Amino acid sequence: MALYGPVDRLDDAQAADVVTLASRAGLAIGHTPVGDEDWARRSGSGDDGFGAAWATGADGKLVAYVQALRSPADPSWSAELLIDADERSRTADLGAPLLSAVLRLVGQHGGGTVHLWAAGGGPAHAEVAARAGLEPHRTLHQMSRPLPTGLHSSVPLRAFVVGQDEEQALEVNRRAFADHPDQGGMTLAMLEERMAEPWFDPAGFLISEIDGRIAGFCWTKLFLGSDPLVGEIHVICVDPDFAGRRLGHELVVAGLDHLAGRGATIGMLFVEGDNTAALALYERLGFEITRTDRSWTTTVATST
Ligand SMILES: CC(C)(COP(=O)(O)OP(=O)(O)OC[C@H]1O[C@@H](n2cnc3c(N)ncnc32)[C@H](O)[C@@H]1OP(=O)(O)O)[C@@H](O)C(=O)NCCC(=O)NCCS
Repeated sequence: MALYGPVDRLDDAQAADVVTLASRAGLAIGHTPVGDEDWARRSGSGDDGFGAAWATGADGKLVAYVQALRSPADPSWSAELLIDADERSRTADLGAPLLSAVLRLVGQHGGGTVHLWAAGGGPAHAEVAARAGLEPHRTLHQMSRPLPTGLHSSVPLRAFVVGQDEEQALEVNRRAFADHPDQGGMTLAMLEERMAEPWFDPAGFLISEIDGRIAGFCWTKLFLGSDPLVGEIHVICVDPDFAGRRLGHELVVAGLDHLAGRGATIGMLFVEGDNTAALALYERLGFEITRTDRSWTTTVATST
């Protein structure tokens, strides 16, 4: 077994090996922290917001990989660990030195808070995190249900209007997610970046307008090319001034209806483990937890 890195960019062949490892590691499509698109798109960026280290087996095949990416929003970093399915029993022994190496690079690139995400969040990842000095942080559930639901929304909704609704939607998002800074801190630049993605469709960004202001919205995302076709409730929020009137329920029903109308047969979403209001809403609508991811965190000081 040979360890490599840390490096601050990957060449195309290395990036392709990482995408292959991600699929061998058994990552589901549409998984936000370690989505395949992100591996391919960002790993070659070569700026100081990226760091990676990896291990190869005797035959030179990539078997373990750790990556850290600086968030565009703030000075925090998101780290992920991939282990080949055949090497899972060695997760802690391979993952801990790789993560420590990547943390050193993060320090050289200005430091900051690092969140390690583990798809499936098993005990081996907890061991990696502990050995590298990280503390437990968040729990994220992925929930799914079959589509269609047979339900239709009874409240008037309209599609997002590009160039008109951005600021108000961001304000509702900020107010609704005041307790969840990762989501509540979405900026215009971040929104526009997502709106430039191929999956973005204003017709799938459903707005509830009451008395001339946005009361809530349900932004859906189709995982184009997935089979079966997966549709996500990407962002759902209701302004606190309009909470508790079943608007959240109506918006999710409408979002799922829209996704089913586009051919999705699976409805999917991510929800924080401590978001009791949202969990209750989704369970009532027949969603079940299909996986649970966990994160661990540490703050890395700037080093030279
Ligand atoms: C989650 C959210 C969309 C719910 O919207 P809402 O319009 O207030 O909720 P509703 O009035 O439609 O309530 C729907 C169900 O949610 C549950 N619920 C709502 N608020 C709740 C609370 N504070 N605690 C527990 N359950 C709650 C109820 O079970 C209710 O079901 P019932 O009326 O059939 O019994 C809203 O609280 C919100 O925007 N939260 C912040 C953003 C967020 O967390 N989004 C989800 C991210 S995954």
